[in-house]
Amino acid sequence: MKDKLGRPLRDLRISVTDRCNFRCRYCMPPEIFDKDFKFMPKTEILTLEELAYMTKLFVKAAGIEKVRITGGEPLMRQNLVHLISMIKEIEGINDIAMTTNGSLLPSQAKSLKKAGLERVTISLDSLNDEKFKYINGRNIGVQSVLDGINSALKADLQVKINMVVKRGMNEEDILPMARFFKDKGVILRYIEYMDVGNTNGWKLDHVVSKKEIFSIINKELPIEPVDPNYLGEVADRYKYKDNDNEIGIISSVTDAFCSTCSRARLSADGNLVTCLFASKGHNLRDFLRAGASDEEMITKIKEIWTNREDKYSEERLSHTDKKEIKKIEMSHIGG
Ligand code: GTP
Ligand code: 5AD
Ligand code: SF4
Ligand code: SF4
Repeated sequence: MKDKLGRPLRDLRISVTDRCNFRCRYCMPPEIFDKDFKFMPKTEILTLEELAYMTKLFVKAAGIEKVRITGGEPLMRQNLVHLISMIKEIEGINDIAMTTNGSLLPSQAKSLKKAGLERVTISLDSLNDEKFKYINGRNIGVQSVLDGINSALKADLQVKINMVVKRGMNEEDILPMARFFKDKGVILRYIEYMDVGNTNGWKLDHVVSKKEIFSIINKELPIEPVDPNYLGEVADRYKYKDNDNEIGIISSVTDAFCSTCSRARLSADGNLVTCLFASKGHNLRDFLRAGASDEEMITKIKEIWTNREDKYSEERLSHTDKKEIKKIEMSHIGG
C-alpha cells in the first residue's frame, strides 16, 4: 500500500496521553499549558485495549512492523506496561520503542523491558542544571534524567538521546553533550528546532542547521558519515573517527526527508495523523466505537493512507511568509 507520493506505511507512532510532567518551552510553554489548560477528557482517550486493537488493525492494513510509544509523556499513562505487553503479542511487530523525558523511568524501566520494550529515546537538551531547569519549565534537574538514562541502560534497553537545538537556548551545549555521551554507549541525536504546533513562537533564525551542528562537533571531535540503517531513517548518522560510537543529526528544516516518510501517528484520542504538521487528524475512534468491523476499519485506514500527500517540511520555507497555518500540537502526537 502506497500513498499518493509512493510512500509505504511502515511505522506507527502511538501517543498515549497529551499530558506531561515537563513544560518544555518549545513544546508546552508553561504560560499556555497552565492549570486552566483543558487536556483531553478521559472518555475521549482510547483505552489500552483500544490502542492495542488499533495497532493490530495497522498490522493487517499495512504490515507495519515498528511501533513507537509517545505522548506528551507516555510514562504518565497508568499501566503502560500492560499496553506494551499487548503490543508485544501482536504477530508482525518486531520493534517496540518509546520516546520519553526519562524522569519516570527509574521505577519503570525494568518492567517495561520485561513486557517487551526494546528501545527508549530520552530527551535531554542541556547538561547545565540551571539551563535545563529553565528549559523544562518545571525546575527539574539534569540528574533526574541521567538517572532515567542509567536505569534504562541497566534494564538492558537500547538508549538514544534527543537534543533539540535552538539558537539562543542551547547551541553552546552541542559540544558538552557530545563529549559527555561519546563513551557512554548511547546515540546522541541533535534535532533542528521545528515549527510544530502553534505555541512555540518558532522563527527560522532559531534554527541551528545540520551543517553548523556538524562543523561545531567535527572541529573538536572528528566525525564521518555512516550509511543509514534503513530507507527513510530520519537521522543522518555519523561516527567518531577515534571510536565506534555514533551521533545523529535530524534536519527536518534544512534538509527535509518527506520523500521517504513512512510514519503514521495515532493520537491518544484516536485520530490518525499523516504528518507531524497536519492541521487535523482522521477520527478513527468514533468509527471504532460506532461498531465498525475489522474490515471496515482496515478499509478506512487504507483509504486515508492512499490519499495522503503530505510533505510539509519540503514546502516549509514557502509557508513562512504566509498566514500562520493551524497545526496539531506536538504534545498530541509526540514528535
Ligand atoms: P528510530 O530510527 O527508530 O530510532 O526512530 P526515530 O529516529 O524516528 O526516533 P524519534 O522518534 O526519536 O525521532 C526523532 C525526532 O525526529 C522526533 O522527535 C521528531 O522531532 C523528528 N521526527 C521524527 N519523525 C519525523 C517526521 O516524520 N517528520 C519530521 N519533520 N520530524 C520527524
Ligand atoms: N522541534 C524539534 N523537536 C522537538 N521536540 C519537541 N518539540 C520540538 C520542536 N519544536 C522533540 C522533543 C522530543 C521529541 C518528541 O521531539 O524534545 O525529543
Ligand atoms: Fe513533555 Fe517532551 Fe513536550 Fe518536553 S518535549 S513538554 S518532555 S512532551
Ligand atoms: Fe513526514 Fe510530514 Fe515530517 Fe514530511 S513533514 S517527514 S511528511 S511527518
